[in-house]
Amino acid sequence: MSAFHIPQGLIEQLRTARQVAVLTGAGISAESGVPTFRDAQTGLWAQYDPQELATRRAFQQNPQLVWAWYAWRRGLVAQAVPNPGHHALVTLERFTPHFTLITQNVDGLHAQAGSQNVIELHGNIKRIKCFDHDHPVDHWEEETDVQPYCPVCGSALRPDVVWFGESLPAVALHTAVNAARTCDIFLSIGTSALVQPAASLPIEAHQRRITVVEINPHPTPLTPYATYVLPGPAGEILPALVAQVTQ
Ligand code: OAD
Repeated sequence: MSAFHIPQGLIEQLRTARQVAVLTGAGISAESGVPTFRDAQTGLWAQYDPQELATRRAFQQNPQLVWAWYAWRRGLVAQAVPNPGHHALVTLERFTPHFTLITQNVDGLHAQAGSQNVIELHGNIKRIKCFDHDHPVDHWEEETDVQPYCPVCGSALRPDVVWFGESLPAVALHTAVNAARTCDIFLSIGTSALVQPAASLPIEAHQRRITVVEINPHPTPLTPYATYVLPGPAGEILPALVAQVTQ
């Protein structure tokens, strides 16, 4: 028997849903050892606020510092493996006729787990492009303390992620909004629900009066709007939920 109480009404709704939309944030990867954005950093990076490093301005002022921070995060991501929360979403996708997994995470762990229909709203940390022209680059020196440059135009290399103040990839955003507008049920998992436009997706679903589910150990601005709130770690709640839906 699961340690978490999963409401029967939610199990029934997920069993019969034809379209499920899921939004994930850094919390789903926490149990894989990838630090979230709003938890205090430790070690070398404890003095820096991630929200102040993940901007164009920070990169223009000190590209080497921002490069080194992402090189460190890439190292963490390279060692990370999907956890039971990621795997449960793969099982749910196989069970559901139309499933859209929208993620704010740049770690690629959903695809690594085997999720198929994944929309990466904020890019992917494993891809590198140049700052001036977005030239994609396949090979670079993975030194934390050496800032590499684009072999085509000579501008500084950066991760292919969306920084604060930058636009999201248009097709990804359009597909995500469409999923929020057409799904039968929306799950928001491991996100602080603070960063727009991602945070507006479950609200959009709520305004259509469909069921919105939040899985997060802590309350967020979305919590008052959620039909079901499952407080706790995604790596434990999701496997318990999906096992009951698919049994
Ligand atoms: P945040 O770091 O803002 O929030 C992580 C959320 O995960 C918090 O609400 C935690 O309570 C929750 N959490 C922690 N451990 C969890 C667990 N085991 N299971 C479930 N939830 C858990 O991360 P995001 O909401 O993803 O953007 O942040 C959104 C965006 O802001 C990120 O994509 C990034 C960030 O700055 C960019 O880099 C552009």
